[in-house]
Amino acid sequence: MLTWSHVVLNVRNLDLMLDFYQNILGFDITDRGPIAEGGPEIVFLSQQPSEHHQLAMVVAKAEEATTKSVNHLAFRVPTFQALKTQIQRLQDHRDTHFLPLSHGNTLSVYFGDPEGNGFEVFWDTPWHVAQPQGKPWDISLSETAALNWIESTFSGEPSFEAAEDYHARRRSLREG
Ligand SMILES: [Fe+2]
Repeated sequence: MLTWSHVVLNVRNLDLMLDFYQNILGFDITDRGPIAEGGPEIVFLSQQPSEHHQLAMVVAKAEEATTKSVNHLAFRVPTFQALKTQIQRLQDHRDTHFLPLSHGNTLSVYFGDPEGNGFEVFWDTPWHVAQPQGKPWDISLSETAALNWIESTFSGEPSFEAAEDYHARRRSLREG
């Protein structure tokens, strides 16, 4: 079962959008930075301590900003096996190209729906890492091997910690 997590918007005026989402709607910025070296900035926003982001904004390239305001929709699956099953369905549907990417806190797979809307399905790992980051992952790995790979790939990051510690800190920040 897919459960709703977040949407990423392509935005034109980041300052205007952040002012509105923070001050009128009450979101906190949870992380921000360039998507890749020299890439556009992404800003993550959330009000819910258990979600790293409920919403993110990417400063869009001019042509994307006018054609698509939604960068991608994202849903979570509850188990590694459910993620593998979803990937198998994508593989069986030959028209769909997909990209497996791990953010350290997730194992994700990105693809487009038949009308080109971006879509992410992900499974939460037991860890938090400051975002943005992304590394392609090998979809043939077992759950144990995938978790070992994540730990060895991301544990050098200063922000690497248990997801439950991160969520507890976010809860206490929110409660003030
Ligand atoms: Fe996402």
